[in-house]
Amino acid sequence: LKILTKTGTRNATAPYLYGWMFEDINHSGDGGLYGELLTNRAFDGSTVTWGGIPDFVGDSIVYQENPVQAYGPVLTGYKPVGNTSLRLDNLHPLTHSHSTVLQLDIPTTSNQSTSPVGVENMGWWGIPVSPQIYNVSFFIYPDQVRNQFNLNTSITVSLQSNITGEIWASTVIPAQSWNVVNWTYVEAQIFNTVSAPDSNNSLAITFDPIAASGQTYYFDQISLFAETFKGYKNGLRKDLAQNIYDLGPKFLRWPGGNNIEGYSIQRRWKWWETIGPLENRWARPGNWGYYNTNGLGLMEFLEWTEAMEMQNVLAIYSGYSLGDAGEGNADEFPATPEAMYPVLKEALDELEFCMGSTDTYWGGKRAEYGHPEPFDIQFVEIGNEDFFGQNYPFRFKYLYDGLKAAYPNITYISTAYDENSGYTVDIPPGAMWDTHHYEPPAFFIDAFDFWDNWQEATNNSDVTVFVGEYSVFQVDTPSEVDDFSDPPSIHIFYPRLISAIAEGVYLLGAERNPLVVKLTSYAPSLQNWNWYNWTPNLIAFDADPMHTVLSVSYYLQKLFNTYRGSESVQVSNPRGDFGPLYWASSVDGDKSVFLKVINVNSTAVPLSVELESPWSSVNGTIITNEDPNGFNYKNNATAITPQPLNLTKTRPGRNGIRDWDVPGYSITVLQFNL
Ligand code: AHR
Repeated sequence: LKILTKTGTRNATAPYLYGWMFEDINHSGDGGLYGELLTNRAFDGSTVTWGGIPDFVGDSIVYQENPVQAYGPVLTGYKPVGNTSLRLDNLHPLTHSHSTVLQLDIPTTSNQSTSPVGVENMGWWGIPVSPQIYNVSFFIYPDQVRNQFNLNTSITVSLQSNITGEIWASTVIPAQSWNVVNWTYVEAQIFNTVSAPDSNNSLAITFDPIAASGQTYYFDQISLFAETFKGYKNGLRKDLAQNIYDLGPKFLRWPGGNNIEGYSIQRRWKWWETIGPLENRWARPGNWGYYNTNGLGLMEFLEWTEAMEMQNVLAIYSGYSLGDAGEGNADEFPATPEAMYPVLKEALDELEFCMGSTDTYWGGKRAEYGHPEPFDIQFVEIGNEDFFGQNYPFRFKYLYDGLKAAYPNITYISTAYDENSGYTVDIPPGAMWDTHHYEPPAFFIDAFDFWDNWQEATNNSDVTVFVGEYSVFQVDTPSEVDDFSDPPSIHIFYPRLISAIAEGVYLLGAERNPLVVKLTSYAPSLQNWNWYNWTPNLIAFDADPMHTVLSVSYYLQKLFNTYRGSESVQVSNPRGDFGPLYWASSVDGDKSVFLKVINVNSTAVPLSVELESPWSSVNGTIITNEDPNGFNYKNNATAITPQPLNLTKTRPGRNGIRDWDVPGYSITVLQFNL
């Protein structure tokens, strides 16, 4: 290969090429990245049940069918401590959106024992306990009608082992200042100094059995947070957020995915129900079989992108909802301006909340909720996979025109162009097309040159591309079955080396076409080991940070994202064309030249590399393994990770490396220091 640093054509690279796609799927949000450690905090619904934390089963692969949906109101995840009983109550609503609360009845006989009485919550399949400060909060309402409330009592909140009962840390909260005729918001901190051996722990909220004997208490919005990423209140789980941050994603696509659409129009992601005080937010049955608390709401997404310095790719509801879960067929707004106006208004208000000055109604709300500074929205995606709908050409144009008139500087993204829909969407110049690929490895390798002439061939010279979702989701098969219900022998659960190789070839194609492909994001991104419904994902995790597994596809993206120049540069190959080696090169000013090389075959291929510019040293990183089907797993989390590669100049006169054997099944990045 000859890297034409002096004579070749250069193009500016796409600055935001590698991003992150997030929606609540696989318990990626509630029970995942969202920092709330308790399950079912407002009794809306939860998939978590007592009966032990599922133990990890060796290194066998278990495909988990969607467990039963636990839609609320339910007591799932709670159990009584000592001589008490728990039930749900509707007579003492906390707020309009929190109308069902927990009723804790402590019998008069509780004073016959000295054991504490109360309630415990098992967290999202456990609670990790490490030395730090935990923030506990809840609303409590003593039932005066039943009993004279004893203000000399107190509550103890404890982090404790489910196995031994050992208490890791606790705090006593006096009751003196509580309201006896209404709800009181209680906040406390638990100062913990120990590390529990595992995450099989719970939070207990207990009373003295003698002082509280015969009392009834109502609870709601019971919450526990550990330290969050960059300390945001109501923020992100620190370790998982750090994993995402380490990859360096340049944008966040949120909040879906299907999860924005809803099972029905009524159940769509209503952004205004996801802002403000948590006790006023409505939970919602998400599209992925479990309740979403909406604790990770619009403002939290914006704070996430702020904390990680990412661009926002905000997906707005576009008037199409997927039918599912027994709620009937897909539902779509009619193709008339009158029918679509509320959808446009909803999106305009959403943008006003994000970007409007504090003088506007929604900008003022943003300030009231703690962020007077407007956020910046660079990209707005109009819907999600709307090719499933019938009238997206109308809906897209109507929303595009309305939004563009109000926010001309935003780049708008169409979710359909010409896929299987029987129509072509007319994407205006300057706008983008989001295309999704869940395919076997061969598809991605074949698609290496897909973008080379796409704009010319489709007469879309001013339309650019967002690959908003992609992953190798199954192995190659002779007949190329393309079905998510494929048996485990075909469907992939964790990204394999061959997945990363194939995805990498496709991404090289994107890097070589920086004027066409501007944004890419793998999907889905996060998978809770305890409850998931879509594989593979970039990161798999459970409550215990020690169990997190970064996949080979994660490492591929991190590597490709880290070593990116400001301009792509031409590479000539006098010996032939691409395959089995694929490559792309870029330069970073006059400091470095990057070369990415992927070998898709099993055998090593000798390669000589030359640069037109002189260079002093080269740093290499390689991801490789004999087994293309190898993957990282809980008990073998680092089976395939990037390793340093030592290469030296073996052609000093020609600024080159001669006959470097590019290993079979490998992904290499070289950084030449000029
Ligand atoms: O990533 C999982 C789902 O795949 C997304 O929600 C949807 O957009 C696509 O069909």
